[in-house]
Amino acid sequence: MRLQRSQELFRRAVQHITGGVNSPSRSFAPVQMEHPIYMRRGHGAYLWDADGNRYIDYLGAYGALILGHGHPAVAEAVAKAAERGTVYGTPHELEISFAEHLKAAIPGIEKVRFVNSGTEAVMTSIRLARGATGRGKLVKFAGCYHGHSDPVLLGAGSGASTLGISDSAGIPDGVAADVITLPYNDAVTLARVMDAVGQQVAAVLVEPIVGNFGIVPPEPHFLQAVHETAAKAGALVIYDEVITAFRFRYGAIQDELGYKPDITVLGKIIGGGLPIGAYGGPAAIMDLVAPLGPVYQDGTFCGNPLSLAAGLACLKALQEHGLYERLNRLGTVLADGLRQAAARHGVPVVVNQKGGALSVHFTDEPVKDFTAVERSDAQAFALFFREMIAAGINLAPSIYEAWFVTAAHTAEDIEYTLNAAERAFAAVARATA
Ligand SMILES: Cc1ncc(COP(=O)(O)O)c(C=O)c1O
Repeated sequence: MRLQRSQELFRRAVQHITGGVNSPSRSFAPVQMEHPIYMRRGHGAYLWDADGNRYIDYLGAYGALILGHGHPAVAEAVAKAAERGTVYGTPHELEISFAEHLKAAIPGIEKVRFVNSGTEAVMTSIRLARGATGRGKLVKFAGCYHGHSDPVLLGAGSGASTLGISDSAGIPDGVAADVITLPYNDAVTLARVMDAVGQQVAAVLVEPIVGNFGIVPPEPHFLQAVHETAAKAGALVIYDEVITAFRFRYGAIQDELGYKPDITVLGKIIGGGLPIGAYGGPAAIMDLVAPLGPVYQDGTFCGNPLSLAAGLACLKALQEHGLYERLNRLGTVLADGLRQAAARHGVPVVVNQKGGALSVHFTDEPVKDFTAVERSDAQAFALFFREMIAAGINLAPSIYEAWFVTAAHTAEDIEYTLNAAERAFAAVARATA
């Protein structure tokens, strides 16, 4: 496969853009490639790079896409919205329609606020929890990723862990002193810590199903412990559903899991592929936000008409009958096929899958927490990744990231992918023999 144009673009990029990328997760250094692949066009399940190579895409813009690239209804909604102006700096009706749609899908949300990214939404939800409780401490879980605001970049997963900087430089000691990072799925440690310091904790922040060190479901009693210990201590529970909402079902995953957090954070899919974030919850909490209450949050582009138009078109398309069942079927075929292909070549892998989301870890131990992924074979993954790229399959260049099947993927795409994976696992087997 020729990647000459990507190579040239990267050489140009590094002269002007730090590391040549606008998000460190896009660096190909972790998979031992000299440069990332520059994409030029996306359509449906496919991306085309600057050299004209076509890829079946499972990156899905890190989970922001669920309908595939350039879905016609979304593209049309954005074009029409742009004709009416791109930003007003005033309230507009689409904000209300969009809020109504979200509330209808997520019963735990009585009031909502739209911001521009998951990062902003999490950052504000923490401030809101602190404002609501008058407390400072935050409990979170190792390897969960909640964006790049100061408190959540301690013990962070996703791109931060890929580059070995889960605890970013530049975070003041004062911020760090208020953050307690615990192992995911460890109800015993959580209970012990909450017994000791729970009275100072403003919120327990959690990905209800992890999407940032692979796809990792909660153990049966883990979320129960989150809610019980928080309630006992008078702390709030924040669910970061930036990846999980609308990924597995029409609505948030909290309603399938049977829990109601105090604050729900949303992003990615709800923007239909445009920048967005949102946080919401019961009116009693949300009305603490300005202009009604003392917790401040603002933003020039918050609730911008393009993102909301794209998001609303996306939500409407997601209501298509049988869409989530189809994603689940394709995800299951892909996950089973990957397990079988790896087994045929004697390569130990753990494939965690839920619906159209899955992760492939080169390990023989169950992946229930972050440390299991840290111990997995990054060399084997890097080789697998390079083989898949060469075969025209686009994955995230990291052992921590998930694969996302979209509504645009077909059974033929999955079959093609499994054939490519068969050869990639064979290469891994040869390299480790
Ligand atoms: C669970 C979760 N929360 C928050 C974020 C941050 O969202 P954004 O990249 O839109 O700032 C991400 C991004 O990957 C995420 O996966």
